[in-house]
Amino acid sequence: MSKPKRKREAAELYQRITRSTAQTVLDEDEAGERDEPQNHAGTPITNDMLAASRELARLIPLSPHPKRDLPKMKKFRFQLLHTWMLEHLEPCRVADVGGGKGLLTYLLQQSGWPATVIDPVHQSLPVKYKDLQIDKQVHIDPAGRVPRIDRTFAAEIARDFDLLVAMHAHGCNIQLIDAAAEYERNVILLPCCIIQEPLQPPAGVHWIQWLVDYATGKGFALEPFRLNFRGQNIGFYAQRRSHGSPRI
Ligand SMILES: C[S@@+](CC[C@H](N)C(=O)[O-])C[C@H]1O[C@@H](n2cnc3c(N)ncnc32)[C@H](O)[C@@H]1O
Repeated sequence: MSKPKRKREAAELYQRITRSTAQTVLDEDEAGERDEPQNHAGTPITNDMLAASRELARLIPLSPHPKRDLPKMKKFRFQLLHTWMLEHLEPCRVADVGGGKGLLTYLLQQSGWPATVIDPVHQSLPVKYKDLQIDKQVHIDPAGRVPRIDRTFAAEIARDFDLLVAMHAHGCNIQLIDAAAEYERNVILLPCCIIQEPLQPPAGVHWIQWLVDYATGKGFALEPFRLNFRGQNIGFYAQRRSHGSPRI
């Protein structure tokens, strides 16, 4: 294959992968596909549930043939969230709460954002990851490190950051909203389940909707989004209303 053709194909792949959330799908058939621990409140949110939500309704896929549109990028949630952040937010100090191995923090650091993993379980960076832009595996220097605070999240940690991010960090969602409200910080949550959370939604209320209402009640402006990976792929950016206009 010629070099220009390869480049064009890589660019097209990247466009497809990072296409806006409106074309991303999780319909009732796929709702059973999961890669996270679940309980009833962590059940993937269906289109019916989305339609009933003022804030989340816009995440329903627009295409009449959503399954044909875009294959799900099962393993690439860190890359997809990283891209979303770069496209929608200004660089800022990020606390990657429950960040695990630290790939999101690593990618943000590579993009010039000061980011730190907050996680009580110390883990090494993965040895490689797929760069979606060039559609290639990239090796991480074995000596590579990201800043880490190896402890559970506590509200006062928010003081040193502008943005608290928690992807599938069960037990941390309510705490992050509370801390962000207390220290006037912004939050990105991609909730998975209600395990270890101090409060629980009442029967019939989906966990994500409950968090949306909770954050709204604390004075945040909410921007929901959906990323193109399989599983718990709905998130929201909660911004303090006093912080001026969001870039999004
Ligand atoms: C399901 S994993 C998600 C890891 C990563 N964000 C991802 O998307 O793959 C949850 C992570 O949260 C961490 N964690 C659990 N409780 C925490 C707490 N109170 N504060 C910070 N991290 C916590 C765990 O150690 C674990 O690494």
